[in-house]
Amino acid sequence: MTTPMMDLCLPGLVRGAVQCRATVVEHEPMARNTWRMKLECPEIARQILPGQFFMVRLPGRSDPLLGRPFAVYDIYQDESGQPRGLDFGYVVVGKMTSLLESLRPGDDVELWGPLGNGFPPPPTGHLVIVAGGIGVTPFLAVIREALRRRIYGQPPRELGHVPSRITLCYGVRSAEFLAGVEEFRREGIDVRIATDDGSSGHRGFVTELLQELLDETSPPAAVYCCGPEPLMHAVARLTDAANVPCWLSLETPMACGFGACFSCVTKVKQDDGSWDYRRVCVEGPVFPARQLAFD
Ligand SMILES: Cc1cc2nc3c(=O)[nH]c(=O)nc-3n(C[C@H](O)[C@H](O)[C@H](O)COP(=O)(O)OP(=O)(O)OC[C@H]3O[C@@H](n4cnc5c(N)ncnc54)[C@H](O)[C@@H]3O)c2cc1C
Ligand code: FES
Repeated sequence: MTTPMMDLCLPGLVRGAVQCRATVVEHEPMARNTWRMKLECPEIARQILPGQFFMVRLPGRSDPLLGRPFAVYDIYQDESGQPRGLDFGYVVVGKMTSLLESLRPGDDVELWGPLGNGFPPPPTGHLVIVAGGIGVTPFLAVIREALRRRIYGQPPRELGHVPSRITLCYGVRSAEFLAGVEEFRREGIDVRIATDDGSSGHRGFVTELLQELLDETSPPAAVYCCGPEPLMHAVARLTDAANVPCWLSLETPMACGFGACFSCVTKVKQDDGSWDYRRVCVEGPVFPARQLAFD
């Protein structure tokens, strides 16, 4: 059952977001400490844009009291191709994610969303995606939308031409943390892996894979990135030096998720060189890298 969220928050900030209960229909391991949870919620599945997220809570529990933000990994469809529900991918780090891990098919979770802006429509040239760890989750939907394999948004948003090339550079500590690689490869894109210990792909930082692409004679049209803050900072610096547009999806901890508490603010540069704050939950989580003032 869905309830519009508009009366719970500042008008216009979370247009289209709803609060609903969704039932777990599948819950499978994706990688070490990492799970994929499929939730049935057809009304919401039609609306999401790649890069948006949901606040997730467990019904009937006051501990943890606050919801936690999770990016949509993708929508799943029924046999007739209609959106049927949402897929999330998460890594177990604390209280909420440990409780999520114990859920079984038939259990319910509470969702608020879809929230945030999502990634911009992809460029027509070479799209390079840089993901660190569980930061890979928003990108299956980004790639499927770019390649027109799935339609997102209600009404579907306008897109330009299909990108001429898509490369995913995906970095993790070691091979056992790689999540969803075969699924990405099935989309026919170039997937390049980096691991800290050399157990899969390039031994070293994922930014080294990005640098190779930035050094090509024809540079990428855009870079999208999500992952730990030091990675995003490094990607912002490299793309700035190469003069390539870059968008970062921030994973700032959040309390309310709909613009009311200001716990998620990030520093952004203004046109006049001064700085201001923006709420990651409503004005993000995706920002042009050049706007962000990393400390
Ligand atoms: C827009 C957005 C999308 C996200 N998408 C995903 C996703 O798809 N999959 C996924 O696994 N996680 C995602 N996250 C991160 C996720 O929200 C946190 O891992 C989750 O809130 C942890 O909850 P917990 O109760 O298990 O951990 P807690 O008990 O709250 O915290 C455990 C530890 O993790 C740290 N921590 C908590 N949240 C964060 C954070 N955001 N960044 C860094 N450290 C943190 C805490 O400081 C603490 O040390 C996303 C975050 C944002 C803002
Ligand atoms: S989490 Fe409350 S304003 Fe962003």
